Amino acid sequence: MKTVLVTGGLGFIGSNFIRLLLNDFSDYRVVNLDAVTYAGNPENLKEFNDNSRYLFAHGDIGNRDLVDKLLAAEKPDFIINFAAESHVDRSITGPKAFIDTNIGGTFTMLEAFRNYCDTGAKCRFLQVSTDEVYGSLGAEGYFKETTPYSPNSPYAASKASADHLVRAYHHTYKLDTLITNCSNNYGPLQFPEKLIPLMISNALEGAALPVYGDGKNIRDWLYVEDHCRALELVMRQAESGETYNIGGHNEMENIELVKLLCNSLDNRLGPLPDGRKRTELITFVGDRQGHDQRYAIDADKIKQDLGWEPQTDLKSGMEKTIDWYLDNQTWLDQVRDGSYREYYQEMYG
Ligand code: NAD
Ligand code: TYD
Repeated sequence: MKTVLVTGGLGFIGSNFIRLLLNDFSDYRVVNLDAVTYAGNPENLKEFNDNSRYLFAHGDIGNRDLVDKLLAAEKPDFIINFAAESHVDRSITGPKAFIDTNIGGTFTMLEAFRNYCDTGAKCRFLQVSTDEVYGSLGAEGYFKETTPYSPNSPYAASKASADHLVRAYHHTYKLDTLITNCSNNYGPLQFPEKLIPLMISNALEGAALPVYGDGKNIRDWLYVEDHCRALELVMRQAESGETYNIGGHNEMENIELVKLLCNSLDNRLGPLPDGRKRTELITFVGDRQGHDQRYAIDADKIKQDLGWEPQTDLKSGMEKTIDWYLDNQTWLDQVRDGSYREYYQEMYG
């Protein structure tokens, strides 16, 4: 049995990753360290609360004492750091939390990891990062692992900073670290502040669908389960010190994506009660400050080295995602009306 310390496991990607480790593998034990911020939802992993291979630890990755004690007690073989503030818009209006968690928190995790390795422990540290560290592309080209970092938003800058620390800890202290930089994820359990779940949520309610600028910005969409399978492979098989880009080969303009979602919902549910098509909810709003034009990943290295390729095209991933939100409307309602925080308050005050 290998023990994996997952940080940020109550969030979108972390909870999908933990579900994959516990459902599809029998030889992983998971310890989930999560501060349960607004983005952490205990509902996401409720089904594992009584599972003997799952342990939840409530706390901040920036709490050195807590992380030291957790490492000494649980003796992980792998640490995978998902914990972060993850939404670009929030980083524009309030960057401090991004600096504290994404830079300060990762630094604390690295220091605790260094200390743990000094005690003779054999452990790997995988930093889950983003393609946004590379900046913005024009109409041509792809981000490769060798593309220079050029982050544009406070979020991207905080993640870039953390990546540099991870790399430096490998170089300086010879620690066994890895970095992955992925494109935009989508799928079940994503908090409805990001484009896809926000549009699904608003379209179900008949609310406006705010598209920033001219809607022609392009993202490369990666289905979360494909991402999680890549992470498990990298964690287990990659050479120490490696960096991998993980992308979906699914580029689309935001406006096209939003229309696709609207049409799919109309096909399933019929038009809105007042007879309008959901595309009529699309509302162009002012652009995001410093809005990156295009992201696209060259994922050839992970294919060559580890044999990973995305399995889910955007059309089928979108249908699976819409299915999930339609089947889990209570989850969505509780997130929308804020009542998902009540469970947290009951548990942690
Ligand atoms: P998320 O916002 O859904 O979840 C973040 C989780 O981290 C939450 O459970 C939250 O409670 C926890 N957390 C936040 N601050 C913490 C702290 N100080 N200590 C402990 N836990 C804390 O994020 P996500 O979308 O699942 O992203 C996970 C990781 O993947 C992040 O590092 C993000 O930068 C990266 N990433 C995400 C995407 C994407 O499309 N979602 C793309 C590229 C990279
Ligand atoms: P988002 O999901 O926030 O991810 P990121 O900024 O990390 O790529 O946004 C994806 C794209 O959708 C981005 O180009 C901004 C755009 N967008 C909108 O047009 N409207 C919205 O309400 C949101 C949240 C995003």
